[in-house]
Amino acid sequence: MKDPYLLHVFSPTKYVSPFDINMAYEAKYDAVIPYCNVTLDEIHPLTQDTIFSRSPVGVKRTGIFIGGRDFHLAIDMLNAARQAMVPPFEVSVLADPSGAITTAAAMVALAEHWLKKTDGSDLRGRRVHVLGGTGPVGNCVGLLAASCGAEVYLVSNRGEREAQASADICNARYGCELRGAAGGAPGAIAKMLEDTEVVFNAAKAGVRLVDAATLRGARRLRVAADANAVPPSGIEGVGAKDNGVALETTGGVARGLGALAIGDVKYRVHTGLLSQMHDASRPLYLAHEEAFALARSIVG
Ligand SMILES: NC(=O)c1ccc[n+]([C@@H]2O[C@H](COP(=O)([O-])OP(=O)(O)OC[C@H]3O[C@@H](n4cnc5c(N)ncnc54)[C@H](OP(=O)(O)O)[C@@H]3O)[C@@H](O)[C@H]2O)c1
Repeated sequence: MKDPYLLHVFSPTKYVSPFDINMAYEAKYDAVIPYCNVTLDEIHPLTQDTIFSRSPVGVKRTGIFIGGRDFHLAIDMLNAARQAMVPPFEVSVLADPSGAITTAAAMVALAEHWLKKTDGSDLRGRRVHVLGGTGPVGNCVGLLAASCGAEVYLVSNRGEREAQASADICNARYGCELRGAAGGAPGAIAKMLEDTEVVFNAAKAGVRLVDAATLRGARRLRVAADANAVPPSGIEGVGAKDNGVALETTGGVARGLGALAIGDVKYRVHTGLLSQMHDASRPLYLAHEEAFALARSIVG
């Protein structure tokens, strides 16, 4: 094949996610080449090996995808790859570790969409709790919601100190103002949901954190978004396919967003960003801000 479209996938983990490989072929790359156990300081030489070995036409048909499980490390790797470019030997780079960036972009864009649709408002000034907020999806949801002007709490099952430590790392790195909250003690989530307007569940798959009784007490709740696709749902009463379905347990006031509805937007953001790289005439560097912009345009 002459001048094939190649996607090099750099991952700090033992395996490259099969999900990411499938997505890359869906986005029409001719070959997807995985690299495992990649360290941050290996990104520079790997990137230069990638760019210098192709003709000017070939270099336009080459991309780098940063995977893994760690949101902050993936951003560092994207920046390291960018610094290794030597124009005109320069290729596009997308970071999406564990699907966290595209999933978070989909969750926050959908929540914003339903706030607008139901009462003409948005996330500005909203009190938001992110369950599983210390994970890769949770961190990214937190910082995107904060970028929309929300008052965001990252919730940890392990306690406030761990939650605040995770929030402090995000605040130092991305200039946001996230706060930590403890969710592990009995009744802790019910108490925080009494006064929250948007809850995002980004906790480990297959764990139910919010039951119907908790939702009945969540009198200010407007949106409940649940990323967990593994039964039972993370938020009771939110169906996997729900996209803005009125939650009965909140008197129909709050709207539910289920994992498959989120996944549908996530899929379109993920393949859409890969297609942008595939089709671009100049190099693109894509992470949470670009993913969120695309999710907003898909949802809006
Ligand atoms: N719908 C989609 O398209 C889509 C795409 C990607 C991912 N997802 C889902 O998004 C969610 C988040 O993904 P992730 O990779 O960020 O998750 P993760 O790293 O597996 O877990 C996120 C956080 O959950 C918390 N946690 C672990 N065990 C818990 C328990 N027993 N009770 C409460 N919290 C617990 C942990 O934080 P603490 O210990 O600090 O509480 C952890 O940091 C998962 O459910 C995943 O399946 C959905």
